[in-house]
Amino acid sequence: MDRTHGTSTLAVFLSALCILSSGWLSPASAMDFKAVKFTYYLHDSFVPPNVTVVVVAGANATLTGVPTLGDISVFDSILKETASNASAQIGHSSGELVSLSDPAQNFITFVQEITILGYSGTISASARFNFTALSWEVGVSSGTGSFRGAMGYFRVTIVSLDPSFPVIKYEANLILPRH
Ligand SMILES: *[C@@H]1O[C@H](CO)[C@@H](O)[C@H](O)[C@H]1NC(C)=O
Ligand SMILES: *[C@@H]1O[C@H](CO)[C@@H](O)[C@H](O)[C@H]1NC(C)=O
Ligand SMILES: *[C@@H]1O[C@H](CO)[C@@H](O)[C@H](O)[C@H]1NC(C)=O
Ligand SMILES: *[C@@H]1O[C@H](CO)[C@@H](O)[C@H](O)[C@H]1NC(C)=O
Repeated sequence: MDRTHGTSTLAVFLSALCILSSGWLSPASAMDFKAVKFTYYLHDSFVPPNVTVVVVAGANATLTGVPTLGDISVFDSILKETASNASAQIGHSSGELVSLSDPAQNFITFVQEITILGYSGTISASARFNFTALSWEVGVSSGTGSFRGAMGYFRVTIVSLDPSFPVIKYEANLILPRH
């Protein structure tokens, strides 16, 4: 009985494969993508008013002290067009930063809400990165709105480590399905 059942399951599986290979589901493989690249700047404020990063866990954790495994900061940073604080705001970068065993290494996860000419939506991303390297990649996992179905990565570069108002450059290298 088991063997008969197994055979018929295999037959169903094989006929499903035939349907797939006959191109019956071809729209998925015909999906059209476009490469999109743009640059903007993340502005943080460590001082009141309107602090953008807070430490939420870690016995002796401070924003600028030596990190230890498990320290967690939550951020709701401002995204602007340029490295100048006077430039126009284009969105927010919201998420959390976790310190790892090696004090140079961090885990980060965030969602960026962005509105620029022709695009409006969110981009989700996460990474393990070496903060002392001053530049790193963050993998993009998904998006919403104009960024729905986003793939690709961010190239992140530290512009200024000002102890009160650090600025970080984001270069988005995205692959977007044409909607
Ligand atoms: C701080 O945030 C408040 C509330 O969102 C806003 O009204 C105020 O303009 C902000 N202050 C500065 C200095 O940006
Ligand atoms: C936090 O600091 C106190 C006082 O310096 C120290 O006794 C304690 O071991 C520190 N805890 C951690 C997790 O580093
Ligand atoms: C940036 O501009 C805001 C007003 O948009 C101001 O409240 C804030 O103090 C400025 N920050 C710096 C670092 O100049
Ligand atoms: C982190 O980056 C620094 C500076 O580039 C480098 O010296 C160090 O070896 C890196 N650490 C790891 C674990 O990759």
